[in-house]
Formats: sequence, C-alpha cells, structure tokens
Amino acid sequence: MESVTIGNATLWLGDNREVMPLLTGIDAVITDPPYGCNKAEWDGNFPVEWYAPARDKAGMVAIITGSSGLKDSVRLVGEDFVDVISARNMNGMTRGPIGFGNWLAAVLAGKKPAQGPNAFDFCVSGDMPDHPSPKPYEYMHKLVARLTKKGDTVLDCFMGSGTTGVACMNLDRHFVGIEIERKFFDIACERIAAAQQQLKLAL
Ligand SMILES: C[S@@+](CC[C@H](N)C(=O)[O-])C[C@H]1O[C@@H](n2cnc3c(N)ncnc32)[C@H](O)[C@@H]1O
Repeated sequence: MESVTIGNATLWLGDNREVMPLLTGIDAVITDPPYGCNKAEWDGNFPVEWYAPARDKAGMVAIITGSSGLKDSVRLVGEDFVDVISARNMNGMTRGPIGFGNWLAAVLAGKKPAQGPNAFDFCVSGDMPDHPSPKPYEYMHKLVARLTKKGDTVLDCFMGSGTTGVACMNLDRHFVGIEIERKFFDIACERIAAAQQQLKLAL
C-alpha cells in the first residue's frame, strides 16, 4: 500500500478494504465498482465488502452502474436507498440486456444530496484513458457537481484511471482515490496532476 499527495488530491495504491479504515473527513463516496461485464480480471464479481465502511465514512454513497449492475447496487444498499440519478448519453451507445443502452445510473444511498433534478444528459468527447471501462469525463463532471459542493472531500474507492478525481479538481473539491492496479493508479496520478497544471495555467 502506498499513497501520493498531488495538491488537494490523495491517491492510494492498494485494496480499498485495507485503505478505507485509515481515512477521515470524507463528505461523499462517488464510485464505479466492477460489475461483472468480464472486461478484465477484476470484473467478474460485484464487490460488496467495501459498502459498509464507505457508508460509515461518508454518509452519502453514489454507486455508478449500467443496466447490468443496477439490481446488485440497489440490493447492496438495502434500506439506505435514496434515489437513482439517471444520465442519458446523447452521442454513444453500449450493449444492454435488451439491445443498445444509452444511459448510466447512480444509485444514491445514505445522506440525501441538496434538492435538485435526478436526471441529466451528457455527451462523450475527447480521448478516453487507457482503461477497460473508464467513465466519460462529462458524466463524472455533472455527477460530482450535482452531488457535492465546493470544498467537499470526495472518495472514489474504485478509482480506475481517475476520472472522478479530474472532475473534482476542475470543480474545486478535495479528492481521495483508491486503486488496486499499479497501471491504472499511475494513469490516475498523471491525469490528476495534468488537471491541476491546467488550472494553474488558466489563472
Ligand atoms: C469500473 S473500474 C473504474 C473506472 C473509473 N471510473 C474510470 O473512469 O477510470 C473499477 C476499478 O476498480 C479497481 N478495483 C477493483 N477492486 C478493487 C479494490 N478492492 N480496491 C481498489 N480498487 C479496486 C479496478 O482495478 C478498476 O480499475
């Protein structure tokens, strides 16, 4: 296990079940767990052990999923269930159980976010990082903006290539990320450092 601090982001290389007990001061968990589409070794089973510690740390948890993980996510949060934020992909399609799918869901559990809409549209643009299932940046930006406020600390305990972290940097949130695979951890470090550099150049 190791950690790197890059400005207002702290990134951990390790298993979230080992890292989470060390964390304090988290306002929201916004995360995209593997949900069994078998695109990679870690993607075979929907993980469950992470949820109770995440909920205890933050109060508010948002689990991002497509159709295939929705049932498992709702079952996992049980009585903590609050709502689903749905997001329509305006220029992309994935394969779903009844054909093509063009939406993402974020299952909300625990503490309620500020009042506001529970649906938005997004477009996919720009290069995707070298990861088997990155979330589109525009989606993460809108979701982080909807669920949190400036200055909050957001945890993504299945960080992947760090898309949640990049959105947090651009929206002036603090970020804590945990990723188990070195290759994706390194990509997240690079992307989050680059986002901070861009912000400095823009000032
Ligand atoms: C669906 S991907 C997240 C992709 C991310 N949203 C992005 O935009 O790149 C899930 C990630 O969780 C990581 N992972 C799986 N089990 C983990 C664990 N126990 N602790 C930390 N990371 C884990 C995988 O290596 C993978 O990169």
